[in-house]
Amino acid sequence: MPRPIIIDTDPGQDDALAILLALASPELDVRGITCVAGNVPLALTSRNARIVCELAGRTNVLVYAGASAPLERELVTAEYVHGKTGLDGYDLPEPSMPLAEGHAVDFIIETTMDSAPGSLTLCALGPLTNLGQALRQAPEIGPRLREIVLMGGGLFEGGNTTPSAEFNIYVDPEAADLVMHCGAPVVMIPLDLTHQTLTSDAIIADFRAMPNATGPATAGLLDFFERFDVEKYGSQGGPLHDPNVIAYLLQPDLYGGRHINVEIETGSALTRGMTVADWWRVTDRTANVLYLRNVDVAGYWQLLKDRLSQLP
Ligand code: RIB
Ligand code: CA
Repeated sequence: MPRPIIIDTDPGQDDALAILLALASPELDVRGITCVAGNVPLALTSRNARIVCELAGRTNVLVYAGASAPLERELVTAEYVHGKTGLDGYDLPEPSMPLAEGHAVDFIIETTMDSAPGSLTLCALGPLTNLGQALRQAPEIGPRLREIVLMGGGLFEGGNTTPSAEFNIYVDPEAADLVMHCGAPVVMIPLDLTHQTLTSDAIIADFRAMPNATGPATAGLLDFFERFDVEKYGSQGGPLHDPNVIAYLLQPDLYGGRHINVEIETGSALTRGMTVADWWRVTDRTANVLYLRNVDVAGYWQLLKDRLSQLP
């Protein structure tokens, strides 16, 4: 029985590859894709999600527009990383599939309440605004979810948006705080892990050589996406963050971590959006998160290549 999931996302090249991985995997039943403002404004993230679905040949996927701004703060975007469209790097046609009727937040609430308790997984790849809004409107969805698996935060790797904050959490720290205490099992995939899953010329060449349309498109998106991080970190390649969320669902044995307490800084301007992760368990605060720090990097890339090679 395929595992029902909702993907909440701000595409973004790395989000795009996560969506492709999910759509290429029969183990998963993508009930819908809910878009949020983040890497680029909502009009573009909701455009980009449909472009990716069409690339995968899946025009039947329900794609909803959601929050255009964080719960309490001004929107911060990341065109400097993702380009002005959010999907720079490979020319893909404008989407012909329409957005689904209704708001993403309502879809999250209704789908959770219509699903059997403990059956639906929410995969969060961007700022957590949609989920935060849904939890404000219907707090009962938290304990009803099977799991929330999110890319966000960091401890040992610091931050990528400020010295102490990762982008997804920085953009909407209030939403992240709601998620940390919502009653669902939370799995956090932070920069401490995603900074290990770096692209490389060989990996990009493998995608470029694929005989389908998805491979070369993936290579173009990766080429563009990595340039900022290569300059910033001086590394061989850029960290491919978001597909780790889907890879974790497909092959959890590739990952390792520990149950710890994670709190979100929402008061300080200096450390706004910091994930205060008690990895060494120096407090008696409740362990509310499975914080993943280890990944089988070769296994991650093999899974991604195997699955994306099966798409159109
Ligand atoms: O900090 C990396 C995260 O922020 C990724 O999800 C990327 O797509 C951006 O949303
Ligand atoms: Ca993202």
